Amino acid sequence: LRAEVIAAVEKAPDLTALDEVRVGALGKKGRVTALMKSLGGMDPETRKQAGQAMNRVKDAVAQAIEARRAALEAAELNARLARERVDVTLPVRPETAGTIHPISQTWDEVVAIFAQMGFAVAEGPDIEDDFHNFTALNFPPEHPAREMHDTFFLPERPDGTRHLLRTHTSPVQVRTMRGEAPPIRILVPGRTYRSDSDMTHTPMFHQFEGLVIDRTTHMGHLKGCLSEFVEAYFEVDSVPMRFRPSFFPFTEPSAEVDIGCSRQGGELRIGAGDDWLEILGCGMVHPNVLKACGLDPEVYQGFAFGMGLERIAMLKYGIPDLRTFFESDLRWLRHYGFAA
Ligand code: PHE
Repeated sequence: LRAEVIAAVEKAPDLTALDEVRVGALGKKGRVTALMKSLGGMDPETRKQAGQAMNRVKDAVAQAIEARRAALEAAELNARLARERVDVTLPVRPETAGTIHPISQTWDEVVAIFAQMGFAVAEGPDIEDDFHNFTALNFPPEHPAREMHDTFFLPERPDGTRHLLRTHTSPVQVRTMRGEAPPIRILVPGRTYRSDSDMTHTPMFHQFEGLVIDRTTHMGHLKGCLSEFVEAYFEVDSVPMRFRPSFFPFTEPSAEVDIGCSRQGGELRIGAGDDWLEILGCGMVHPNVLKACGLDPEVYQGFAFGMGLERIAMLKYGIPDLRTFFESDLRWLRHYGFAA
């Protein structure tokens, strides 16, 4: 029996089979166990001798099982190490890296260009009050110009005031003039909101605003500064500019600026040409705005301008629909070279 069981132990191909052999020999109904039980019916002398012999069998079987178990476990570990080996020399799987969005790209470029002209970046809150967004900017109460902006209003507060999502970056002019003394030279990039949506309007869009206040700042400075910007941004040597008289409550005189361009076979080229494109609004800061901000219009004067970030990005990259900026479509980003 001993030889038979030990042979079976040594032939067990894996741990499960080994356990079956163990149960078959040493388990409750195992063959070795059954043999031990037979001791009960023997006379004392025979039982003593047979008992010792049987214990030796039992120990030998148990030892053989332990040895086999250790060997099988070692073999299994080796097999697993071989299976789970990592080949560090394999080439890596291709990975798609994140890339910068055209809005962020344009934002950074514009900030960099104006920084070179000595403009500091200023920012203000997206949620504004009527004073900063309208009143201090010389919008008369109940004036239709307030409606022009398709304002998103927030629910009225307990104190009766009604906040709003800023409709332009101009409120930051007010915050800056009230907060620091001239000379002022700031660029204000930021999000703006108007209740409007079509090919060229989205409820949220970006503007950047320039403001320069000093004692002798005049329209020539405004023009020089804008042409410097347009040439740097569109990367062309010279761009014709046209100042068309316009109206904004917070500037006087006010102008809209067109830049020269040409269209050949549907392709838009910025620079000399026989066509014009409107790109921004600007003007000399209105004396009423200076006064509302605590500045004496007899001493200080300055200019301001505001433009749409998406608009100039659309012109540079030939993007026809404003809404696509906010759709997060990878195919679109790839098409315009903004993603790999
Ligand atoms: N805030 C104006 C707008 O959103 C643009 C502007 C800014 C015009 C500064 C003049 C001066 O339409």
